Amino acid sequence: MPLRIKTLLTDMFGLEYPIIGAPMFLVSYETLTIAVSEAGGLGAFPLPNYRETDDLKKALKNIRQATEKPIGVNIHLSGRFEWKKQLALCLDAGVQFFITSLGDPRLVTDDIHANGGKVFPDVVSLKHALKARDGGVDGLVAVGAGAGGHGGTIPIPVLVPYLVDKVQIPVIAAGGISSGGQMAAALALGACGVIVGTRLIATPEAGVTKAYKKAVIDSGPADIVYSNRITGNWANWIKQSIERVEATPELGSKKWLDIWSAGQSVAQAEDIRPAGDIVREMAASYAKVSKNLQNTIVLEG
Ligand SMILES: Cc1cc2nc3c(=O)[nH]c(=O)nc-3n(C[C@H](O)[C@H](O)[C@H](O)COP(=O)(O)O)c2cc1C
Repeated sequence: MPLRIKTLLTDMFGLEYPIIGAPMFLVSYETLTIAVSEAGGLGAFPLPNYRETDDLKKALKNIRQATEKPIGVNIHLSGRFEWKKQLALCLDAGVQFFITSLGDPRLVTDDIHANGGKVFPDVVSLKHALKARDGGVDGLVAVGAGAGGHGGTIPIPVLVPYLVDKVQIPVIAAGGISSGGQMAAALALGACGVIVGTRLIATPEAGVTKAYKKAVIDSGPADIVYSNRITGNWANWIKQSIERVEATPELGSKKWLDIWSAGQSVAQAEDIRPAGDIVREMAASYAKVSKNLQNTIVLEG
């Protein structure tokens, strides 16, 4: 019988595994989203990857032609984005999972709930988590220290149980998770699922250059720097990409494309491998790890 891992998250969306393919700016587009969802996880992409609403419409159509499985998006709720139009298109296409960022999730929760979807804001602190809960969200994405993109400062083993305990709504762990053992640890901390970002950059389906994928494979966790110098917001970057760009002034305004974000889980990225294989291997290794844990001898009395 094929393997299934059941949690609150898999029940919520009808998934085989509690594994979400991270929405990643300029990295996750249709192909990666489809691959993760078809493998039994939940594929997601960030709406700002499509500048024009027509491009988003086409992307959603492409995904829907390839898979009927649930998918998710990251919606940026700031005045800079046409999020109302984007939301309407996503709801039309049956998107069920919305990670909100950069704004008050209350702007969208009613519409999303009316269409059967769920709202999980990205949070890095208890303050944001409590505010979001009081605004009626369905759960939280706890973004820990060392995560790719705008990682937080609190490590997952502290942040997840803290939020689970104090906020009392479902929590998904994001940051430094790309193996079965790391997923088992996150679920043991009380998370109902995990988000995998950095590891999925080194896949044929990621929409980035070979050089970026190679940098993810070649880097170790000590090569990741947390800086607010690149965009003004704190985020994790591959140090070598910053150094190379700084040493090449002739890149001019295109230099931003050559500064690459990734998290400390570059530690576990050793090769370019199909996203579906990564998802299935994580699930299989989770099964082994949890079996081993069950065999741990617990002495009572
Ligand atoms: C290159 C890159 C771009 C990202 N862009 C976004 C984004 O646009 N929206 C978002 O919600 N999260 C974004 N993230 C964060 C991921 O969704 C996810 O939370 C994170 O990658 C998980 O940690 P990991 O990289 O250690 O697996 C990004 C991450 C990376 C690596």
